[in-house]
Amino acid sequence: MSVFGRNRLTTVVLLIPVFSFLFLGRAKGQTQWAEALIERKIDSLLALMTLEEKLGQLNQLAARGDWVAGEKGITEEQKQMVRRGEVGSFLNATGAKTLKEIQRIAVEESRLKIPLIFAYDVIHGFRTIFPIPLGEAATWNPELIEKASRVAAIEASAAGLHWTFAPMVDIARDPRWGRIAEGAGEDPYLGSTMSAARVRGFQGEGLGKVGTLLACAKHFAAYGGAEAGRDYNTVDISERTLRTIYLPPFKAAVDAGVGSFMSAFNEIAGMPSTASAFLFTKVLRDEWKFTGIVVSDWTAVMELTRHGVAATQGEAGVLALRAGVDIDMESKIYVTDLPHLVRQGKLSIDVVDRAVRRVLRMKYRLGLFDDPYRFNDPDREKAVTLTADHRALARTVGAQSLVLLKNENRILPLSKNLKTIAVLGPLATSKRDPIGSWGAVGRAEEVVTVLEGVRNKVASGTKILHAAGCSIDSLDRRGFEEARRLAEQSDVVLIVIGESHRMSGEASSRTHIGLPGVQEEFVREIAKTGKPMVVVLMNGRPLTMPWVYENVPAILVTWFAGTEAGNAIADVLFGDVTPGGKLPVTFPRSLGQVPIYYNHKNTGRPASDQDFFTSKYLDSPVTPQFPFGYGLSYTKFVYSDLKVGTEKIRSTDSLRVSVRVKNDGDGKGDEVVQLYIQDLVASVTRPVKELRRFRRITLNPGEIKTVEFTLGYDDLAFYNQEMKFVVEPGTFKVFVGGNSVDVLEKTFEVVER
Ligand code: GLC
Repeated sequence: MSVFGRNRLTTVVLLIPVFSFLFLGRAKGQTQWAEALIERKIDSLLALMTLEEKLGQLNQLAARGDWVAGEKGITEEQKQMVRRGEVGSFLNATGAKTLKEIQRIAVEESRLKIPLIFAYDVIHGFRTIFPIPLGEAATWNPELIEKASRVAAIEASAAGLHWTFAPMVDIARDPRWGRIAEGAGEDPYLGSTMSAARVRGFQGEGLGKVGTLLACAKHFAAYGGAEAGRDYNTVDISERTLRTIYLPPFKAAVDAGVGSFMSAFNEIAGMPSTASAFLFTKVLRDEWKFTGIVVSDWTAVMELTRHGVAATQGEAGVLALRAGVDIDMESKIYVTDLPHLVRQGKLSIDVVDRAVRRVLRMKYRLGLFDDPYRFNDPDREKAVTLTADHRALARTVGAQSLVLLKNENRILPLSKNLKTIAVLGPLATSKRDPIGSWGAVGRAEEVVTVLEGVRNKVASGTKILHAAGCSIDSLDRRGFEEARRLAEQSDVVLIVIGESHRMSGEASSRTHIGLPGVQEEFVREIAKTGKPMVVVLMNGRPLTMPWVYENVPAILVTWFAGTEAGNAIADVLFGDVTPGGKLPVTFPRSLGQVPIYYNHKNTGRPASDQDFFTSKYLDSPVTPQFPFGYGLSYTKFVYSDLKVGTEKIRSTDSLRVSVRVKNDGDGKGDEVVQLYIQDLVASVTRPVKELRRFRRITLNPGEIKTVEFTLGYDDLAFYNQEMKFVVEPGTFKVFVGGNSVDVLEKTFEVVER
């Protein structure tokens, strides 16, 4: 008799592992089975494709059709290219109806009916515009920024888009660089948390789900390290600086599941990013196991000839494709120059097939072969765009992004029942500037200005006076007198000054980062009235305005706060929201200090007033105007009882750190508790501080909260002389506080295993 007949219980027990394998194995197996099926489909498609059709999949064009009823299409010539299978994706086309028609041409009128991917720069909102990313970073609230990215994905995907060229995760330490506005500032850890939050927000529950966008980590890599802060300029940094400062936010994007990367325009130490096999094969695919697609930046493939690493466009295309850049944005080199180089044996068809397979695999993952119109829904587009909820979220993000730099004599918050308020300055009524750079399809007419926000906030009996006083960047002073007259009549003066949205963003670096035009003179003129004055700053970067910082009692940094800017700013000015934002980037005293950042090295001669021969200036303190992580509240937070779980740990142990934070004021408020470490002695020099944890908390008046963090191996590790990522035994400091300077500190030891 078989074992199965002897004892029914035995039979059941024996079958459990079988069933469990089938069940568990089946679930995992199902995914592997589905992936294997996709690979077989790709195999069969590749076998049918001509060389031109294969390279067509690697060709991305910018839509050059007209804007019609708020939608952007493609030209007749571009439609013909689609019919011939010479385009794999478009950028800048938008609108559910328009994209549906373009996709129809691809899937009905081309030979192989391969669907297109539609991409757009949805950087900080699509139609509902959120603060610029530097402002979003100033919230130090990744969960909130994830929600903002979700909203952007919902609106953009309803307009038929599949792919956003965001998040931009370039670390920036030089405020002359215009694209500092577009990232999360100077710190790798803050940048990494924002990068992961945005990827999660854009990609949602998974690629191909309705309401999601394929995200794109850009610009790989070190684009923000441009010499002299001049956009597109040379980057010459060590591999240790590259891996310690610039790569972490990209790795965080990969860990969050980002589906695409974009190359950068710049070179790094002699090798242009777009031709760098070190970046796109060794680091991205071999080390990080990235399985998505890589797109070049705009004509960056062609620009390899200008960098001087390729003599012809064809050579440039070969370099880029071999390096691992799968899609050529706008150069048209892959589709034009590479066919005959493949036929001449100068480029292996395997390199082409590798890239085509990645692109087709992404189209399957996006569900476009199942339903090419999946994302397209004109009715949903109307239903989900610029809704009241989306506006409300933009207002919340806007308010949380604001950073209070000064509030002497507690001028702020203002009473809503003031008799007369003067709202002055060239940006007080601006509708376009609060959208900032990369405003997608945001519409200026939908923006709430600062003047409108104040009007919405104050009591009906409050008189509001307005005059611009001057323009943003002209030298015309004729408006000063009228503005001063209004200030004389008011109880409080709000002056809305700063940059225009065009003064930051791509190709918008500045050699002076002070207030443009005669704005500082204007502020001095109004200050002569002696009226209580608040400067409301609109800026895409840190600005140097020492007289204003020294002499104006209240200063609120608003970056470019988006569609709901005026309401968000009024919420904070009048106390409905207590400011809790913190600087994601150091504010220098002068351009002469730049680059200046908090996580600097100690040097062999750290600045000292007691010793002339130390690292300092003759004409300026070495400290910044305002440090990284700085921001005030209307209430006051007191830190105490900083504790580390143990004085000694092995490198593989984790370490608990706790601190008590008390709201010692009379109003509810948010505080960003920041934890930094310092490795005092190591085999290579280490920064004096490195941000490793933070948490934005809300405390009621008198409330005390114990905030706990846990540090692990990766928080203490660094790249040693052999470029190995290691933790070395020795003494560490841990610092905790509300910015990178005013901190409590403790030490602990890492001992040999
Ligand atoms: C631009 C930018 C890049 C953007 C791309 C498409 O030049 O560098 O960030 O995604 O072109 O607009």
